[in-house]
Amino acid sequence: MKYLDNDPVKLNGPKDAVVIIDQTRLPKETVFLELKKLEEMYDAIKTLSVRGAPCIGVFAGYCMAVLSLEQRGADHDGFIKAMKENADRLNLSRPTAVNLSWALSRQIRKIESMTDSGPEDMSRALFEEAERIHEEDIRMCLSISENGLSLLKNGDGLLTHCNAGALATTRYGTGLGPILLGKERGYEFRVYSDETRPLLQGARLTAYELAKAGVDVTVICDNMANICMSEGRIDAVLVGCDRVASNGDTANKIGTSGLAVLAKHHGIPFYVLGPYSTIDMNCDSGKDIKIEQRDPEEISTMWYEKPLTVEGAKYYNPAFDVTDHDLITAIITDKGILYPPFKDSIKKVMS
Ligand code: MRU
Repeated sequence: MKYLDNDPVKLNGPKDAVVIIDQTRLPKETVFLELKKLEEMYDAIKTLSVRGAPCIGVFAGYCMAVLSLEQRGADHDGFIKAMKENADRLNLSRPTAVNLSWALSRQIRKIESMTDSGPEDMSRALFEEAERIHEEDIRMCLSISENGLSLLKNGDGLLTHCNAGALATTRYGTGLGPILLGKERGYEFRVYSDETRPLLQGARLTAYELAKAGVDVTVICDNMANICMSEGRIDAVLVGCDRVASNGDTANKIGTSGLAVLAKHHGIPFYVLGPYSTIDMNCDSGKDIKIEQRDPEEISTMWYEKPLTVEGAKYYNPAFDVTDHDLITAIITDKGILYPPFKDSIKKVMS
């Protein structure tokens, strides 16, 4: 089932542009952007018009396909060189979600393996690989949702942070997947959605998706999670992830690690949900994960007519934080539910 009227990422009819829903405009307006040029694509990721780790991966796959159309006149080596430059540029747009570099390198590996092919064939292969990445994402999200749902009970109160739904992937989502799948099967959950300062993905996108699917959703400010937990409203916390280190440390939207500390204090299960492609075996721990720093204006002026704070105050705006593996009850992937010790369960699933 589709919970959104439109896919957040797809190709246009003639297959010469990537079409996205501009997520910065939701929920007020549904605006589509048709992107053909490298810098437009870079900006779409950078400004969060397209966002959410798996969705960025699918988008990157399609971008490489569309950009290859400009290189069909090149020779074999020139084609590969130009596509590597495109990939390098896109990879600079956001550093934390591993799915971006994962999809870009997958596309580069594809064309590098075609030693005897010309640009036309390599370009065609990039389109086919992009479709495969997209279809895999849909399948992975469904498996994650099934696995997550097996841990929940009808009537549960659930807390989520940021947006890890169909907008952040390509169907169902990861963190919201079990909720949406459960709704389809007659479960009634009570979902608390953190607003998620500073960009309000929870208030704008999660509330929009859940309300559209008919799920009972309550938006809270980020600093209200503790009272909700202490009042017994929350049975489990479900969040997505942008990169998982091989020891189970997990990067996700800023504020996630604080929720994990609170959940441990209250004895509430804390579940991280994501596809196997979010696990980065090159990172031994969360210390190896690069945290994106964003424009201070997202805090100071973006949502206000005039700045609220005094002139001269400084701002610190890390977009993600790392949740220590000790605070995580389980990592729910498409390949199964991983439990501590994560070093072992991750190694097993990745081999
Ligand atoms: O900055 P964003 O909105 O791209 O951050 C998104 C998140 O942190 C999500 O939880 C994560 O990417 C997983 S999405 C299925």
